[in-house]
Amino acid sequence: MKTIDAQEFRALQRGQWNEAARGWRKWAGLIDDASSEISERLVGLAGIGPGSRVLDVAAGYGEPTLSAARRAGPGGRVVATDMSATMLAFGRERAHAAGLGNIDFVESAASGLAFAPGSFDAALSRFGIIFEPEAERAAERVRGFLTPGSRMAIASWGPPERVPFLAIPMRTAMAQLDVPPPAPGTPGPLSRPTPEALGGLLIDGGFGDVVVEEATVSFAWDSPEAFTTFIREIAPPIQAMIAPHPPQVQEATWAAIAGAVRDVAGDGEVRLDNLVLMASGRA
Ligand SMILES: C[S@@+](CC[C@H](N)C(=O)[O-])C[C@H]1O[C@@H](n2cnc3c(N)ncnc32)[C@H](O)[C@@H]1O
Repeated sequence: MKTIDAQEFRALQRGQWNEAARGWRKWAGLIDDASSEISERLVGLAGIGPGSRVLDVAAGYGEPTLSAARRAGPGGRVVATDMSATMLAFGRERAHAAGLGNIDFVESAASGLAFAPGSFDAALSRFGIIFEPEAERAAERVRGFLTPGSRMAIASWGPPERVPFLAIPMRTAMAQLDVPPPAPGTPGPLSRPTPEALGGLLIDGGFGDVVVEEATVSFAWDSPEAFTTFIREIAPPIQAMIAPHPPQVQEATWAAIAGAVRDVAGDGEVRLDNLVLMASGRA
C-alpha cells in the first residue's frame, strides 16, 4: 500500500535531482565506464536498430539515450525525457559533444508524458522509471505510445545485500541517525529488488512476454573517502536522509559511511560489484 503523496514526492525528487546534476557532471566518466554495458544490453533487449524511434524515460544525464541514438543512426530518433531540467541540460551537452543530432530532450515526469499512439518503436528506462511513484501507470502510458509488438526495457538494482554501493551508505546512515527504512511502496533505487518486483512493473503496465535477466555493475574508487564523496554528490536518496540533521551530525554520518566501506574494502582502492536486474516486455 502506498503511503506517500505522489505529487509531493515528485516535487521533492525534482529538487533533489536538480541539485545532484552537478555531481553527475563530475562523476559521469566513472558512471559511464561502469554501466555502459547496461545501456547496450537495454538497447538490445528493446530491439533498437537503424531507423528506430525510441523513448527514454527518466534519461537523466543521457543514458541509455546516447547509446540508443548511436544504434538508431541518422535515420532514427530518440526522445530523452526527465523531470530534472539540470540533468537534461547535461544530457543535451553530452549529446552535442558526441555529435549526435538525432535526440530531442523533453522535460517531463514519467507520469505526465504525452505522445500520439504509435509514436515509438522502442522504450527504455535505466534506473529511472523506478523513481516514479505511479510507475505502473506510467508504464501503461508508455505502452500506449509504442507500435504494437515493440518492446520496453528497464533496469533497476537488485536486493540490498547484492548492491553494496547503495546498501552500505543507507544501512550506515539509518543506524547512525536512528531512522527507519523508507515506508513500504516508497520509490527509490532499491525499491524493485527482485525479478517479480521489476518484471511486475511492466506486467502491471500491460506488457506481455516479460523476461528478467541479471548483470553486474562494478565500480571502483581510489579510496573510502572518494567513494563517500561520490555517494554524497550523486545519490539524492542518501543525501536526503542525512541533510535534515545538524552539520556535525551530518559530517559524523559521512565519516561513518567512509568507515563502513573501509571495513569491507580496506584502506586503498574500493571496488564493489553490484547486481542489476533488467526487465523487458512486449507492447
Ligand atoms: C539514477 S538517475 C538515472 C539517470 C539515467 N537514466 C541513468 O541511467 O544514469 C534517476 C533519474 O530519474 C529522474 N526522475 C526521478 N523521478 C522521476 C519521475 N517521476 N519522472 C521522470 N524522471 C524522474 C531523475 O531526475 C534522474 O535524472
